Amino acid sequence: MGEGSGYGKVILFNEHFVVYGIPAIASAIGSKTIAKVEQIEGQGWSLDDDRPATPGYKKEKMEHQRDSIERILKAAAIDVNQTPINIYLVGDLKAASGVGASAASCAAIARALSAEFKLGFLDEKINEIAFEGEKGYHGTPSGIDNTVATFGGLIWFKKGVPNIMEGLTLKQPVEIVMGNTGIVANTKEAVAGVRDRKQKDPVKYDRLFGAANELAKYARSALVSYDLETVGKLMDKNHELLQSIEVSSTELDFLVEVAREQGAYGAKMTGGGLGGYMVALTPGEEIQERVARAIEKEGFEALRTEIGV
Ligand code: PMV
Repeated sequence: MGEGSGYGKVILFNEHFVVYGIPAIASAIGSKTIAKVEQIEGQGWSLDDDRPATPGYKKEKMEHQRDSIERILKAAAIDVNQTPINIYLVGDLKAASGVGASAASCAAIARALSAEFKLGFLDEKINEIAFEGEKGYHGTPSGIDNTVATFGGLIWFKKGVPNIMEGLTLKQPVEIVMGNTGIVANTKEAVAGVRDRKQKDPVKYDRLFGAANELAKYARSALVSYDLETVGKLMDKNHELLQSIEVSSTELDFLVEVAREQGAYGAKMTGGGLGGYMVALTPGEEIQERVARAIEKEGFEALRTEIGV
């Protein structure tokens, strides 16, 4: 049996804007997806998906997942008619919108295939295959999720030909809380919505995209110089921009407010939006616990984790 893993992630700055070449910053988090691939008797491929999940997520994503696995197999040049396989997904990363669950599973499957078929794929190749797999979920993924899922760490990412990816170093890991709205969101739809609105109102969107571009540069230097207060304020600003391009939701805005009231340095939605997760910067275990408890008290789930690990 071949095994491999992929990191969960949090986008700290500029999801959605990143699709159009604006720089974004993302980090791996402490949770992972693990894939195991086994050659079996029978035909084609089958899947046992034992990841913990937001209720409804797996069903909602079933078609996307099927498409994604077909694309991964094609990119890895594996012919399951010749060598039937079973894919087994586990790990502590919740299958949910906004934590990079799809990309983590794509990277994990690519690695498990490489191990099972002794293909010796290097990380670059794993990343390429995971990117193909992401297309099954996203349509036109920027590449940020699969990059973090494959390489881990804190990264500055700019989509282009080629993509620019730079590893950033945080002096020390920082606690964050990720609040789950419990709403299964469709990233493809969210991305398409931005495209439509951008086409209809180019002047407004150019202004917003310009602001996001500036913000990324400040965020990068605040992170690198470990100025967490500024990082938090910039996260708040980024949330406003994401609200302006209409990818936030009532529940996300509510959890962002709850986190700020409890002392988070900053908070924003993260990932595709319209549901899924928000993230709060909560340096120190005390603030982290306070924010997480407040989110839980409101009946939502809170993930306590870190960036820059
Ligand atoms: O929904 P997630 O966590 O996979 O994040 C999607 C990020 C977007 O910027 C909205 C899309 C992309 O491809 O970068």
